[in-house]
Amino acid sequence: MGGSGCGKSTLLNHLIGLLEPAKGEILYDGTSFTKAAADQREAMLRRLGVLFQSGALWSSMTLAENVGLSLQQYTDLSPSQIREVASLKLALVGLNGFEDYYPNEISGGMQKRAGLARAMALDPEYLFFDEPSAGLDPISSRLLDELILELRDSLGATIVVVTHELASIFAIANTSVFLDVEARTITARGDPKELLHSGNDAVRRFLSRGAPSETGGTHEQAR
Ligand SMILES: Nc1ncnc2c1ncn2[C@@H]1O[C@H](COP(=O)(O)OP(=O)(O)O)[C@@H](O)[C@H]1O
Ligand SMILES: [Mg+2]
Repeated sequence: MGGSGCGKSTLLNHLIGLLEPAKGEILYDGTSFTKAAADQREAMLRRLGVLFQSGALWSSMTLAENVGLSLQQYTDLSPSQIREVASLKLALVGLNGFEDYYPNEISGGMQKRAGLARAMALDPEYLFFDEPSAGLDPISSRLLDELILELRDSLGATIVVVTHELASIFAIANTSVFLDVEARTITARGDPKELLHSGNDAVRRFLSRGAPSETGGTHEQAR
């Protein structure tokens, strides 16, 4: 979490291998992702699912085809099995019956959910979201937060969300890192509900919309 331009997407892109660290390394379960050989890295990447900021669905493919793409690439499933898994993933995000729709035929919130179904195609252990509620109305955004929590609990996946939305932060996060726009690095980490009271000035200001409070009254306001 952190304000606009503090490096959230940049950090996320390092975690998923789109950017290489200039210094240091990324570890998954103690294994270096950064120093892994190509085949090991490929295997690690298959344990990750990513939902990009825009949803990034292929507009010329139906939802089922979008979700099935990585199954086609990385599994030996037959076309009918792929279709079945794609339907199942779409049902998980509340899009049963929309298999044959194209992305431009559904709402922004539904596109986000379809992107989420696609991110889950290979049953990832880690799911990464970049600003999932960007461009959504408050209700769709809250529904997406609820879906994220549901999936975390039902799939047992670790979900990493990049966001500056306070409502989402307090609703979904049980731990967080704060990127400081001036320091250009992580300056606080922990449960955001605790950081609101005990974090450094910058993180408290961020979590209370610029009005740090000793009593925590702004927390309820933020929700
Ligand atoms: N630690 C860093 N050091 C130097 N430049 C950075 C760092 N983090 C981000 N940047 C640069 O700052 C800009 C904004 O970063 P970005 O990750 O898009 O921010 P956010 O997603 O938080 O809005 C990008 O041009 C990025 O390359
Ligand atoms: Mg960003």
